[in-house]
Amino acid sequence: MKPMQPPLQLLCSAFVLLLLLLCRPLGANGRDAPPPSPSPVPPLAQPALLPAPAVNGSAVAGLPETAAPPPLVVIVVERHRHLRRELIAAIVLSSVAGAMIVLAALYAFLLWRRSRRALVDYKDTQSIDTARMALAPMLNSFNSYKTSKKSAAAMMDYAALEAATGKFSESNVLGVGGFGSVYKANFDGGFAAAVKRLGGGAQDCEKEFENELDLLGKIRHPNIVSLVGFCIHEVNRFIVYELMENGSLDSQLHGPSHGSALSWHIRMKIALDTARGLEYLHEHCNPPIIHRDLKSSNILLDPEFNAKISDFGLAVTSGNHSKGSIKLSGTMGYVAPEYLLDGKLTEKSDVYAFGVVLLELLLGRKPVEKMAQSQCQSIVTWAMPQLTDRSKLPNIIDPMIKNTMDLKHLYQVAAVAVLCVQPEPSYRPLITDVLHSLVPLVPMELGGTLRISPDSPYATQKYSPR
Ligand SMILES: Nc1ncnc2c1ncn2[C@@H]1O[C@H](COP(=O)(O)OP(=O)(O)OP(=O)(O)O)[C@@H](O)[C@H]1O
Ligand SMILES: [Mg+2]
Repeated sequence: MKPMQPPLQLLCSAFVLLLLLLCRPLGANGRDAPPPSPSPVPPLAQPALLPAPAVNGSAVAGLPETAAPPPLVVIVVERHRHLRRELIAAIVLSSVAGAMIVLAALYAFLLWRRSRRALVDYKDTQSIDTARMALAPMLNSFNSYKTSKKSAAAMMDYAALEAATGKFSESNVLGVGGFGSVYKANFDGGFAAAVKRLGGGAQDCEKEFENELDLLGKIRHPNIVSLVGFCIHEVNRFIVYELMENGSLDSQLHGPSHGSALSWHIRMKIALDTARGLEYLHEHCNPPIIHRDLKSSNILLDPEFNAKISDFGLAVTSGNHSKGSIKLSGTMGYVAPEYLLDGKLTEKSDVYAFGVVLLELLLGRKPVEKMAQSQCQSIVTWAMPQLTDRSKLPNIIDPMIKNTMDLKHLYQVAAVAVLCVQPEPSYRPLITDVLHSLVPLVPMELGGTLRISPDSPYATQKYSPR
């Protein structure tokens, strides 16, 4: 049998102790009664049980007449005291029992919540495990399949990567980043993946490669991209990820389709998924992880537009860095002011970057836009005055989604974005708070709690892309 949980044991012992205390006999003045002494007076001689006094009022033999109160009064007073004691005992007992019931219910609720959370985590892990099992035959087919000491990723054979990417052909390029390109790879057996080639062997590149393998290899979450494997070949480093068929949020919003595939509800779902991934890094990893490079090109989308955070090359574990110990890094437009000016790095830096992504989703604009005379303007400075003005807000929304949402929801999301990009980090919310404010805005079918009635004017664009 399962041993009793310590807090429950404590509650029970406290309850028993209280009962014992209450059951102890009390003295007439309400204090503890003295231990019974061998009295010469038999119990029957107690005042309450004395026979009724003589009608003539004569005193009990041996006692002075003035010292003894009339026996009837004694009986009444004693009965009153008894009644009062019983009443007090009953009140105390019932309040203690009530308190115990409330505490027990609270404790049971906490236990239930903990077991439910464990179940959710288990389900998440299971779905990712299923995906990895699907990869196993492909990985085993490689000539040199080894497991890295550093992470759970598989070391892959260079020849297999070369063959799967058509010798890293231009036609397979999925995107180009600061350190190299990402290629689509089609392996034997019909399995596809994304291969990032970090070229040149620069010191920063090597560091990011190691960091990515080290951190991403240990993380499993449905809103964080999965690491499949890695390869080292001459000066080149390769990281193999799960393929995200719909590319990055950046390419969806600012690429040729200009966000036309992303309806209002899909955008809200992407924001929610990203918040879930960040919450996992900040609240569920131990020590917490600060991503440091959250941006729309590092939010990848699968065929159902589930969003996953990628690129952990710059990520750091919270507490494992001090001011000046790490190089100032990030991407223009997403870097929080306190980090940029003072090197102060906390989880709130990621919340700032999340706020910028939220603005991109709402406005369809890039985080930094070029102006005339080679000047740049940040989306935050441009949008801030209009975000807080309800009459102006609908006019600055991305034309692709204009007038397709409930205005109340739009005001709410704008308010969240304004809070996230506050210059003072302590005014920004925790990502958990952001997450909870987004859940009711996402339809149930997309992972939120919003119920859309069929008569709603927004029912038709519930989750289908435009
Ligand atoms: N797993 C993937 N599945 C599909 N496409 C991907 C995947 N990983 C990356 N890409 C595409 O490749 C592009 C380049 O990615 P990469 O991470 O190298 O650079 P970046 O994020 O755009 O910029 P930076 O180098 O500054 O981080 C991404 O924007 C995305 O469009
Ligand atoms: Mg990237």
